[in-house]
Amino acid sequence: MDKKQKYDELVAEIASVIEGETSITARYASIGCLLSQAFSPRFFWTGFYEVDPLKPKELVVGPYQGTLGCLRIPFGRGVCGTVAASGDSLIVSDVHAFKGHIACDSATNSEIVVPVFRKDGSLAAVLDVDSTEFDAFDEVDRIGLERICGLIFAE
Ligand code: SME
Repeated sequence: MDKKQKYDELVAEIASVIEGETSITARYASIGCLLSQAFSPRFFWTGFYEVDPLKPKELVVGPYQGTLGCLRIPFGRGVCGTVAASGDSLIVSDVHAFKGHIACDSATNSEIVVPVFRKDGSLAAVLDVDSTEFDAFDEVDRIGLERICGLIFAE
């Protein structure tokens, strides 16, 4: 099965797993688990950084799978903070070449970060996936992960 087909299957599986679940935390946790399992070992760290409701320009770590992540990331810092500030997904093929990258785990060599929006268009979180491989993510990942993040605040 190619990667695109795998994402198609995951979108369907995730939609069915989270259907009717009103807790967004449960949705984040289940999605992180399914993604991490589906793409192990390429997905080395998979999880969500949520916008802190008390500090709206700061991300705080949410449910994740992987080694210890940083707890807080200000908007504009690192890959996650850049995506939080811009609202656009970002693929970084070599994190060591990304100015301001936050190295929570030195084993990470590439990453993709995708925004999670509420129905009203406001930013709720970002999905951060890190890999120990260089250049581990491409447009198929971006499109697949954006579709999955689009399910979180859907009915
Ligand atoms: N890679 C992220 C930091 C978070 S962790 O690596 C889990 C970044 O630069 O945004």
